[in-house]
Amino acid sequence: MTQFSSNIAALQPSATIAVSSRVKQLIAEGRDVLNLCAGEPDFNTPSIIAEAGVKAIREGQTRYTPAPGIPVLRAAIARDIERFAASGARFDPRGVVVSAGVKQALFNVLFSLFGPGDSVLIPKPYWTSYPELVQLARAEPVIVDGDPENDYKVDPARLEAAAGPSTRAILLNSPCNPTGATYTLEELRAIAEWARERDVWIISDEIYRRIYFKGAIAPGIFDLPAELTEKAILLDGTSKAFAMTGWRIGFSYTSPEVAEKLSALQSQTTSNASTPAQYAALAAYEAGAEVDQAVEQMRAAFQSRRDLVLDLFATRLPGVSVLEPDGAFYFWVSGERFARPGEGSVQFCERLLNEYGVGVVPGIAFGDDRYFRMSFAYSEDTLRDAVNRLEKAL
Ligand SMILES: Cc1ncc(COP(=O)(O)O)c(C=O)c1O
Repeated sequence: MTQFSSNIAALQPSATIAVSSRVKQLIAEGRDVLNLCAGEPDFNTPSIIAEAGVKAIREGQTRYTPAPGIPVLRAAIARDIERFAASGARFDPRGVVVSAGVKQALFNVLFSLFGPGDSVLIPKPYWTSYPELVQLARAEPVIVDGDPENDYKVDPARLEAAAGPSTRAILLNSPCNPTGATYTLEELRAIAEWARERDVWIISDEIYRRIYFKGAIAPGIFDLPAELTEKAILLDGTSKAFAMTGWRIGFSYTSPEVAEKLSALQSQTTSNASTPAQYAALAAYEAGAEVDQAVEQMRAAFQSRRDLVLDLFATRLPGVSVLEPDGAFYFWVSGERFARPGEGSVQFCERLLNEYGVGVVPGIAFGDDRYFRMSFAYSEDTLRDAVNRLEKAL
């Protein structure tokens, strides 16, 4: 048997990718299965963005770029952060590192700032990759239970109870995958004040920020005044906001000093994010009104799907508890009414798949075995069909 390095001794493949591959396989075999596992918008990339990528290829933008990205894109991203930051602060393009998705940006950050002996607080439920990525840096993920009375969000009291001398960071995700819960500005402020007091980093994954149902954009870490964000790191990207998951463009925003290290790491691993994709991302961040309109159309569609399904749950699946998401495109659903005695989320999701043809992601992938995650990045017909099937399963 192959002896693998201790670097990856505990590594697990992405649980969400694994389950969605299995569902896709069943569909390919001709089974009548609804795939509600997806972690991506079902819309195509807006054409003005896609065309910019194609044009870049045609014009020969097909060579290496500087490791942290083409300067015009870094500048456009800095301006975009500035555009939405309620603090009115300025953002330095040298703080932007463009990566192959937020996933790589987060890996760069964790691997560069933390290591053995360090721990990172992760509120639960959490995006499935967080603990794995912290462990790849050989740091320790410390899971903090979110407050069930407040959409499973955390507050300074919960963070303080979980923190210790090795705590170096808190990894926040708002709007949250899998719950859709979104921190208010006041909640963010309280956490930022706690982090400053403790001198720990706040890593804020805001990839779903533009898919928000209480306004055009969810509160973000850089809405806070500069004195609270000295150790804040923003992660965001094009995948969800602009329906660009396959283009693989995300970024981190930190101080230029940290950005330089992240860029050095990236220069030794992947060199740079795909060049044509960077030009497409440039159009996403620069094209103005037309892109804003496309983003708003997708946001509004997610909102009406959310409302439809919440309605259907209330009328057709009474007693099934589901969180009302304020952002992103997932329902976090209690499996209590679906599970047989002793069954964990993997087993009851397997049954929902095999017996009722509903593919959802077991909650254990996000740290809670009592739940499942159901994406609503699907047509209204598919969502109605899904609720019908869940009703049969009850
Ligand atoms: C919370 C969260 N962060 C990051 C990512 C990764 O996104 P990207 O496509 O930019 O790597 C995802 C994707 O599902 C996500 O849900």
